Amino acid sequence: MKIYENFSLKTYHTFGIEVNARYFIEITSMADLHQFLNHPFYKGLPKLILGEGSNVLFSQHFEGVVIKLSLKGINIVKEDADNVWMKAAAGEIWHDFVLHCIARDFAGVENLSLIPGTVGAAPMQNIGAYGVELADSFDSLTALRLSDHKICIFDHNDCQFGYRESIFKKSYKDQFIILSVMFKLNKKPTFRVEYGAIQQTLAEMDIKELKIQHVSQAVIHIRQQKLPDPKKIGNAGSFFKNPILSPIDFKNIFATNPEMPYFLDQSGYYKVPAAWFIEKCGWKGHRSGDTGVHAHHALVLVNYGNSSGSDIKNLAEKIQESVKIKFSIELIPEVNIF
Ligand code: EPU
Repeated sequence: MKIYENFSLKTYHTFGIEVNARYFIEITSMADLHQFLNHPFYKGLPKLILGEGSNVLFSQHFEGVVIKLSLKGINIVKEDADNVWMKAAAGEIWHDFVLHCIARDFAGVENLSLIPGTVGAAPMQNIGAYGVELADSFDSLTALRLSDHKICIFDHNDCQFGYRESIFKKSYKDQFIILSVMFKLNKKPTFRVEYGAIQQTLAEMDIKELKIQHVSQAVIHIRQQKLPDPKKIGNAGSFFKNPILSPIDFKNIFATNPEMPYFLDQSGYYKVPAAWFIEKCGWKGHRSGDTGVHAHHALVLVNYGNSSGSDIKNLAEKIQESVKIKFSIELIPEVNIF
């Protein structure tokens, strides 16, 4: 078990910002995890669990221990005629897990292809894309409670999933380490292709008999066109959540902006793309030094090379301010800022 001091996190998070962790450890086994957690020196220090680092922004050096969780393994736990219960360790790369399921014809996560991050990070913010959320195929997870090192099981209800939300971002924030996630997948797919861009892409692919592989390919195609590859340009995907507007707020803005895109939810509230507000405020394609807003998607803040965490944070704050002034809308970051 090797613990590094003043360790550069540049290649350990997708924004690619030059920033250090006071201490850094990579965990590859449960034995290592227990040994580390019982070490008296590190007990009182702040801890940050890192997966692929695809949803974090470091605005300063991290004065604690960064724990990179690299627990691996995917296996079938049980199955019946219709479903298969598949367990994946927290350190598995999310897209590898999706491909593993698709190769075996197990449906449920194909719309979530190519989302950056690890399996363990996925339930934290209930990752979602193209009409599907992790919660739709989630069965349960195991997590270690930091206060007493007890292994706990959380079922669907326990996790309190919401739009980019779970209990691990709210009342249980920083209290658990997610170790593995169990998914309930379908042997007979229910295709979810109502999302406009998927339908259009599938039509262009000229498919005879639709399979989950095709849905995954369509999603990958759309994402690659719109979202910058973090290996080439530093970013963390959507920087803000899409705001949910009350009918009154929605009508006020819609009256003067009838082209505003929206999705009406069951409770009568309107989800409006944050990207639309940001674009309307003139930020799309903005660049100052190495810090910018992506030219193809206004919700993605980017580091073109040597931007700092505080540069990105300052830009995010300016965007929030201008959207607030122009539309009286509060944009909430989706990315975890440290
Ligand atoms: N739009 C603009 N300007 C832009 C981009 C988009 O006005 O620059 C408008 C367009 O009207 C477009 C609409 O926003 O039709 C929706 O855009 P998109 O389909 O890209 O979805 P999104 O709401 O911006 C969400 C997720 C993404 C996910 C996509 C696809 C959030 C915060 N983001 O983005 O997730 O890939 O839907 O389902 O909910 C991520 O979390 O990192 C992420 C990329």
